[in-house]
Amino acid sequence: MIAVDRARLTRLLQTEQEAYAAAHPRSRALYADATNLFGHVPMTWMNMWSGGFPLYLDHARGARITDVDGHTYVDFALGDTGAMAGHSPEPTIKAVSGRYADLGGATTMLPTADAQWVGAELTARFRLPLWSFTLSATDANRWAIRLARLATGRSKILVFGYCYHGSVDETFALANPIHGGAESRPGNVAPPVPVDLTTRAAVWNDLASVEAALRHGDVAAILTEPALTNIGIVLPEPGFLEGVRELATRYGALLMIDETHTFSAGWGGATTAWDLEPDIFVIGKSIGGGIPCGAYGLSEDVAARVTHHTDRGDADIVDVGGVGGRSPVMRSRSPRCARRSGRCSPGRPSPT
Ligand SMILES: Cc1ncc(COP(=O)(O)O)c(C=O)c1O
Repeated sequence: MIAVDRARLTRLLQTEQEAYAAAHPRSRALYADATNLFGHVPMTWMNMWSGGFPLYLDHARGARITDVDGHTYVDFALGDTGAMAGHSPEPTIKAVSGRYADLGGATTMLPTADAQWVGAELTARFRLPLWSFTLSATDANRWAIRLARLATGRSKILVFGYCYHGSVDETFALANPIHGGAESRPGNVAPPVPVDLTTRAAVWNDLASVEAALRHGDVAAILTEPALTNIGIVLPEPGFLEGVRELATRYGALLMIDETHTFSAGWGGATTAWDLEPDIFVIGKSIGGGIPCGAYGLSEDVAARVTHHTDRGDADIVDVGGVGGRSPVMRSRSPRCARRSGRCSPGRPSPT
C-alpha cells in the first residue's frame, strides 16, 4: 500500500491556491466584496472551488469561458451538461430573443404551439408518450415521485446510495450495511422527516439489495440514473438494469429513470441506446439549450392510473400539491376544476 504524505499534500495545495489567487485578483476581490451573499456566493455549492474562491464569469461562447481577469479556458464542465450544446448556441439565442424581444411574453402562464412539438420530439427520442414540463430536473423528480405514489398507492421511493437527483429529500439515503434499511446520508441538511419513512435504499449493481428492499411491498418507484454520474461515472454491470426492470415489474413498483445527465449517451439518451423501459422518465438541463428547465414523461399506464384517481376526486393535479401558484382569478375560472363538487380532472391523456 502506498502511504499518502498528507503534509506534502497540504503544502502542494497551498502553493496551488496561492498561485490561483495571484492569477485571479479581480475574481478574488469580487468574492471578498460579496458581503450580501450567503457564503459570499450566489449558490452555496459554488464554495466547492478548490482554489478557495470561484472564478467570476465575464463571457462565454461555445466551449470557451473568459473570466473577469481576462483568462480564457476550454470549458469541460459545460454547465454540468446544461450547456451540452455549448454556451449560448445560436438556436437558443434566436428562440429566446425572439420570445423576449420580438414577440414578448415569456411569463404569461399560457401554452404556445411549440410545447406539443417538443412533447412529440421527447416521445420520438425517449419513447414515453405523455410529457409535462417543470423549471428544473429537481422539480420534475419531485412531481413525478408524487405521481408515482398516487398511481401505486405506496409510500416509498427506492434509491441507490450516493445517487443525486437534485435537492429531493427522499433521495439523500444510504442502505444501512447491517439491517439494510435506509439511513440519512452524512451531511444531509435537516431532512423534514426521518428518511426511512419515505425511502428504501439499495446498493448500485447489487440486485439482491434491490430485491430485499422491494420485498417489503411499499415501494412506489425505483428512481435511478442509468449510470450513476454524480460520484464520477459508475456504469451498470451487464444485466443490472434489465434486472432492476424485471424486479420492479415483479414487485409492482414503477421504474423511474432520470436522464438529466446520461442524455449525453446519444440522441435518445441511455434509454434508447440501452433499450430501457422506464414507466416514468425525467430529464432537464441540456434540453433547454442552456435555459433552466425540466420535464417528465409518463407511460400510458401510469397516466391512466393517475387519471383514475383524479377523476374520482382523490387528488387534484391541476391545483394542489406543488404545481405552482396561480392567481385566485385564474383558479376560479379554471374550466376543468369543479371545485364545489370536489372533482377535478386534468383532462384525459390523449392517445399518441
Ligand atoms: C441526475 C440528476 N438529476 C437531477 C438533477 C437536478 O437538476 P436541476 O439542477 O435541473 O434541478 C441533477 C443535477 O445535477 C442530476 O445530476
